[in-house]
Amino acid sequence: MRRLFVVLFGRGSTGRSYLSGETLTKPFQVVTARLIIREWHDLDDPEGVLAAMFQSPRYARFIDDRPGEEIRADTREKARLLLDACRSPVGANYAVVLRASVPARQSIIGQCGIFPADRPDERSIGFGIAEAYWGNGYALEVARALIDHCFTQVSPRVTAVLADTHRENLAAQRVLLRCGMALQLTAHDERVVGRRTRAEHIPTS
Ligand SMILES: CC(C)(COP(=O)(O)OP(=O)(O)OC[C@H]1O[C@@H](n2cnc3c(N)ncnc32)[C@H](O)[C@@H]1OP(=O)(O)O)[C@@H](O)C(=O)NCCC(=O)NCCS
Repeated sequence: MRRLFVVLFGRGSTGRSYLSGETLTKPFQVVTARLIIREWHDLDDPEGVLAAMFQSPRYARFIDDRPGEEIRADTREKARLLLDACRSPVGANYAVVLRASVPARQSIIGQCGIFPADRPDERSIGFGIAEAYWGNGYALEVARALIDHCFTQVSPRVTAVLADTHRENLAAQRVLLRCGMALQLTAHDERVVGRRTRAEHIPTS
C-alpha cells in the first residue's frame, strides 16, 4: 500500500485524488467540547508554532525526515514546507486551539489536517499535540472530530477515513483504536494504518 498522507509528516500530495465537484467549506472550523480546529491565521505565526512543537525530541521521535516524503518541521523553513505540502483540494493543515484560552491570546496546542488518500472516496487525517498538553485526551478529541467532519461535512461519497503512523508510535495507535479505527500493519514499510468506514461511523452530533 502506498503511504498515506498525514499531517505530522506533511508528505507531498502528488498523485492523490479526490471526488470531482467537491468544494471545501471556507473558512474551515470545527468546534469540539474543549477545542477549536481552524485554519491558521498569519498572526498565529504558524511556522514558529510548528517549529517549536517539532523541536521537542519526544514529539518528533517517530517522524523520519525525508524531504518529499516526511517533514520534521523543526525549523521555520521546514514548517512552511509542511504547510504548503499539506494544502490540497480536500483540506490542509489546521491549528488546534484551546477554547478556554483568552481570544486575544489563543493557545494553540496542536496541529492536524485532512488530506487526500490513495482512493478518491477516502480521506486521510493526521494530528499532533504539543508535548506539554499530552495525556489530556486532546488528540482523541481532534481525531474524532476530523473523522466525523469527513463523513458528515466533506461529502456523502466519502466511504472511509484513514490515518497512518510509525509502528512504534503506540500512543497514536491507541488514539486511532479509540476512534474506532481498525489497525493494520503495512507490508512494505511497516507503518500502522488505521481505517474507519462510513458504515462503522456513529456521528457525534
Ligand atoms: C500521539 C499523540 C498525538 C497523543 O496525544 P495526546 O493528546 O496525549 O493523546 P490522548 O491523551 O488523546 O490519548 C493518548 C492515548 O495513548 C495512550 N498512551 C500514551 N502513551 C502511550 C504509550 N507509550 N504506549 C501506549 N499507549 C500510550 C494514553 O494512555 C491514551 O490512551 P487512553 O486514553 O486509553 O489512556 C501525541 O503524543 C503527539 O502529538 N505525538 C507526536 C505526533 C504524533 O505522533 N502524532 C500521531 C499521528 S498519527
